[in-house]
Amino acid sequence: MAARPLIIDCDPGVDDAIALLLALASPQEFDLLGITTVAGNVPLALTQANARRICHLAQRTDVPVYAGCPRPLLRPLTTAEDIHGSTGLQGAVLPSPTLPLQAQPAVPWLIERLTTAAAPITLATLGPLTNLAVALIQCPDIAQGIEQVVMMGGSLGSGNVTPAAEFNIYVDPHAAKVVVEAGLPLTMIGLDVTHQVVTTAARLAALEKLGTPVGQAAAGMLRYYGQLDCDRHGLEAPPLHDPCVIAYLLRPDLFTGRPMGLAIETEGTLCLGRTVANAFPTALAPANALVMETVNAEGIYALLTERLGKL
Ligand code: RIB
Ligand code: CA
Repeated sequence: MAARPLIIDCDPGVDDAIALLLALASPQEFDLLGITTVAGNVPLALTQANARRICHLAQRTDVPVYAGCPRPLLRPLTTAEDIHGSTGLQGAVLPSPTLPLQAQPAVPWLIERLTTAAAPITLATLGPLTNLAVALIQCPDIAQGIEQVVMMGGSLGSGNVTPAAEFNIYVDPHAAKVVVEAGLPLTMIGLDVTHQVVTTAARLAALEKLGTPVGQAAAGMLRYYGQLDCDRHGLEAPPLHDPCVIAYLLRPDLFTGRPMGLAIETEGTLCLGRTVANAFPTALAPANALVMETVNAEGIYALLTERLGKL
């Protein structure tokens, strides 16, 4: 099967880093055209450098990295150093990136790539949706070049930044509204799924056992990451969010979901950034997203460990 043309938009961030490693370890399945970065978990200056550090760690300096939007469309930037550490990749000591940052900003590159695509391109979004929203506003025709968008974001249940909102949507709810209303083939992988994917001691040990620089870095980051999330949500172990998007593209059979009508709350305080899902779409209120609800977590970690072992 031909490798899938893929662009990853992200805010590394520890779980973004693990997701990037999974994608970089899967060249048979992904023709990774580029990585675009956005402000989110940490400011843009760090997210773009961290994406380049991960490409260097994976010995995939062939993948171009672009810097995108340094702040949300309207709201002030909210970051998450409490979860990811001050560097954004707490727990791993990574060399300074040798891979240069692309001079072209991410949004013009996205527009250029998506409007000249020989074949439709899959977008994996792992952070706030500011870059994709600005590209859609500037050039709605990019939709013709998009095969599908698979987004880590949202929640049918409780949020993780507020009781109502998940971080990626909360940081830039206006961007999320633009993307959700653009009529794109959209798959949502929210906290309902990612809170089922937790890094237990046994799963962490399997990564450590790889005994490689990638395995050590991944285990180091995951050992630090998510304890706050874990405690806050009373989970057995820290949840692993972003790699679920890449795993879905590799093994959709590990997931189940349903078409739903998705809308984003952009007003108010209590529910700002809420993903409001109508689980019973009708002709009058049609579905605009495929929302994942269950996942085979053991299968995710088996895939992750097997693939990272190849780097
Ligand atoms: O809510 C989890 C999401 O927010 C993940 O993408 C994490 O990296 C942060 O961006
Ligand atoms: Ca992220």
